[in-house]
Amino acid sequence: MSKEIINVDNLQVWFPVRRGFVESLTSKEQRWVKAVDGVSFNIKEREIFCLVGESGCGKTTTGKAILRLVEPTGGKVQYGGEGLTTQQVKDAMEKAVSKKLMTKKEAEECLSGGCVEVTRLPKDKMKLLRQKMQMIFQDPYESLNPKQSIYDIVAEPLVVNNLGQNEADRETRVEKALDDAGLRPPKHFMWRYPHEVSGGQRQRVGIAGALVLQPQFLVADEPVSMLDVSIRSEILKLMLDLREKRGLTYLFITHDLSVAYVFSDRIGIMYLGKIVELGPTEEVIKGPRHPYTKALISVVPKPDPRMKTEKIILKGERPDPAHIPPGCRFHPRCPYAMDKCRVEEPEPMYVSQEHWVTCWLVTGEGKAQ
Ligand SMILES: Nc1ncnc2c1ncn2[C@@H]1O[C@H](COP(=O)(O)OP(=O)(O)O)[C@@H](O)[C@H]1O
Ligand code: SF4
Ligand SMILES: [Mg+2]
Repeated sequence: MSKEIINVDNLQVWFPVRRGFVESLTSKEQRWVKAVDGVSFNIKEREIFCLVGESGCGKTTTGKAILRLVEPTGGKVQYGGEGLTTQQVKDAMEKAVSKKLMTKKEAEECLSGGCVEVTRLPKDKMKLLRQKMQMIFQDPYESLNPKQSIYDIVAEPLVVNNLGQNEADRETRVEKALDDAGLRPPKHFMWRYPHEVSGGQRQRVGIAGALVLQPQFLVADEPVSMLDVSIRSEILKLMLDLREKRGLTYLFITHDLSVAYVFSDRIGIMYLGKIVELGPTEEVIKGPRHPYTKALISVVPKPDPRMKTEKIILKGERPDPAHIPPGCRFHPRCPYAMDKCRVEEPEPMYVSQEHWVTCWLVTGEGKAQ
């Protein structure tokens, strides 16, 4: 079996709710937006793992927390990819122990397992990992500085991480990244500005900026959702080619099940800060077991009108991560909710070797975690 590159264990990101003056006088209790509320999964080498769910369910926050672009409030993330020397990892773990971010035992476990504890790494050691783990953002208009040339945008990670022997070396690396991102010939694009190229080319610039450090793992956050349908498949194809050529591993985030279906190996369905179903993409999409997954799939347009399925329209308002319902968090909108669902939270249960579901209706072969 392939090696695990990323291991996410019970990851939690809670944001404090800002209280008004009156509320701060009348109530002492701090409330939280539980954007990510106990998420666990792993990603294997060269795998495309997809997180799917409706807007606001915590996909982006999960991706950012894995890269420590937002600070997790609980759980852990381990990186087990190549490209870091044992000495680098040893130094980083020793520093984490000396700063009391982790225990000696945890450091030893990590070192013997050949991984880095991303969530416990001291801030000044994060640069080590930034080279290996990068993010592609949803909106190429917003994520690129319009005042910088494409060269400066793509070279910036090299400058920040103090990489490249000199300017000529940096230029060579930028050219390679642009070429790998399909902006050819690179010299034609290097000295232009983001507004001078098309939307699809702008997203390629974002991809080149992520590639220039030669990462092993990419978080791609809805990388095609702002693009015209006609260029979406080009960008997806580019990402698949890069997996082959550079051996990349992806966490791919999307709200679009049909994109997840064609693109990913395994899929995790997220609802209100938690994964409710996880398994091989084909198996989950063709045989969904969780009522939420079933509802999501039922509204995806089918290519063949004869494949009519009944649409499941979810009742109730959009869920609010500042007020997570007790029991099964999906129960206020679930057509099958029972008394038990309102009080007791279901645990993940396996329904096949790699496929688990959290729902009281599912009696599986055992607990997943
Ligand atoms: N910095 C923040 N402060 C407070 N709430 C946040 C912050 N970032 C995200 N959220 C909230 O966390 C929830 C999940 O957001 P997000 O991860 O962006 O969801 P998704 O990517 O699935 O649309 C949303 O309710 C969002 O408003
Ligand atoms: S546990 Fe109950 S409420 Fe939750 S999805 Fe299953 S049937 Fe619906
Ligand atoms: Mg998002």
